Amino acid sequence: MNQKPIKLHLGCQEKYLPGYINIDLPHEAHTVRKAKVDVEADVRDLSYPAESVDEIRSHHLLEHFSRQEALLLLARWHKWLKMDGLLRLETPDFEESARKFLKGNLDDQFQLARHIFGSHEADWAYHKDFWSENKYRLVLRELGYGDFRFEKISNNVESKFPVLKDTFISKQERLLKKLGPLGFNNLPNIVAYAKKVVKDVDYHTVIRRILEKSLVGRETKILDVWMKEAERGM
Ligand SMILES: C[S@@+](CC[C@H](N)C(=O)[O-])C[C@H]1O[C@@H](n2cnc3c(N)ncnc32)[C@H](O)[C@@H]1O
Repeated sequence: MNQKPIKLHLGCQEKYLPGYINIDLPHEAHTVRKAKVDVEADVRDLSYPAESVDEIRSHHLLEHFSRQEALLLLARWHKWLKMDGLLRLETPDFEESARKFLKGNLDDQFQLARHIFGSHEADWAYHKDFWSENKYRLVLRELGYGDFRFEKISNNVESKFPVLKDTFISKQERLLKKLGPLGFNNLPNIVAYAKKVVKDVDYHTVIRRILEKSLVGRETKILDVWMKEAERGM
């Protein structure tokens, strides 16, 4: 008998996707928009059996976790996914945002800084780490994912109406700025698609190796703290 695929949509907020288990924090955690969910939970507390999930998807969630939490979550999600199971993550594209920040005027920089650092209207609404194509490639490959594909969405006209991607309209930054009051913007996002391609990964070693990249000088004590935090969840 064919079992129904298990597909998780984490940090769904109001984007309720049929066919997915839509998960977000409890109602009280939201100050502005209330989430429409199947399951109210902190995604850090979720647990699924190894190799039981077909797809894990999140949009603008991963950047809300510290570097050690994010690596731990990516390792857990890898464990839960079936072989060839799909991971699909959308986050701000830090590299492109930084490029635009350097070229922008002060008004642009206020908008881009909000995109980079978060909206700050709730305890969860802070961005704690950067994500970019190169970082995704490195981290996901180390954690046993492969078969990568990336989409760069340079404005939310493209995100709302994908057929307009790369068209004349989607390139009109000035027009998009004028449409700001209607909810349009031209802030750069990236969508990473990856599959589970390696079954067994030594998560502890991989997470340590990646965390070492963020050490400055001889900060071994900091690494110990990060690893202790990550190990508690492994
Ligand atoms: C920036 S919103 C993105 C919402 C939606 N995915 C979208 O793209 O429009 C981030 C969402 O992640 C949720 N979130 C943040 N931290 C979470 C956590 N630890 N567990 C579950 N959901 C979380 C928030 O409640 C919020 O709904």
